[in-house]
Amino acid sequence: MRFDILTLFPEMFEALGASMTGRAVKDGIVSFNVVNIRDFADNKHKRTDDYPFGGGRGMLLMPQPLFDAMESVKADNKRVIYMSPRGRIIDREYLEELASEEELVILCGHYEGVDQRVLDRWNAEEVSIGDYVLTGGELPAMVLIDAVTRLLPGVLATPEAAVEESVYSGLLEAPQYTQPREYDGIPVPEVLLSGDHRRIHLWHFEQSLLITKQRRPDLFEAYVRDHGELDKQERRILETIIET
Ligand code: ADE
Repeated sequence: MRFDILTLFPEMFEALGASMTGRAVKDGIVSFNVVNIRDFADNKHKRTDDYPFGGGRGMLLMPQPLFDAMESVKADNKRVIYMSPRGRIIDREYLEELASEEELVILCGHYEGVDQRVLDRWNAEEVSIGDYVLTGGELPAMVLIDAVTRLLPGVLATPEAAVEESVYSGLLEAPQYTQPREYDGIPVPEVLLSGDHRRIHLWHFEQSLLITKQRRPDLFEAYVRDHGELDKQERRILETIIET
């Protein structure tokens, strides 16, 4: 999958070279083409922003550098996303939809935004990472890219990992422990050392339900309503937790 990223701060995207996204690049699963919008400014001072007509706070990215930058990545034939707190908030369904694309263009705004003609010309989808405002679209773009990349085949060690984790199964993850068996006087729950896979599974299930009910009653209710098939013991655990 190829990402064309249009930004005034290309150096921020060096972070994508680390960790899983970096490995996905080396493995040829994703590629990032980071384009500096300023390189396309056709004025002497390489200016990219100006005051909004009609007044208002801050500055807007001007159409000229953005039109030329979009043309340079052949955005006409691609799905274009504009990171903005005004956009649709990303969720699992939307990420899966994006992960099925071959190419995406991501435009990062800065200052107070971009001239509307750019968004209209490329029919940009406005996308938000939550109801709070960051200083620019770069970090939101990296959040989106990371979340899409981990859904691509070959990025995670086991494909099931993508769907089994928190939220994807509809439940939050149970607590986890590693070596040593006891640290600072605090032991690992005995059941996890038992080697009894069935008991361990039921413990994880129970802990997931408890933590989800406590922290995300909205997710818990949805799970109670539409969970998949459960065996007798799982059903009993769920019923007990509903009652408590
Ligand atoms: N730019 C600034 N804040 C943002 C947000 N919450 N989501 C996406 N882009 C943004």
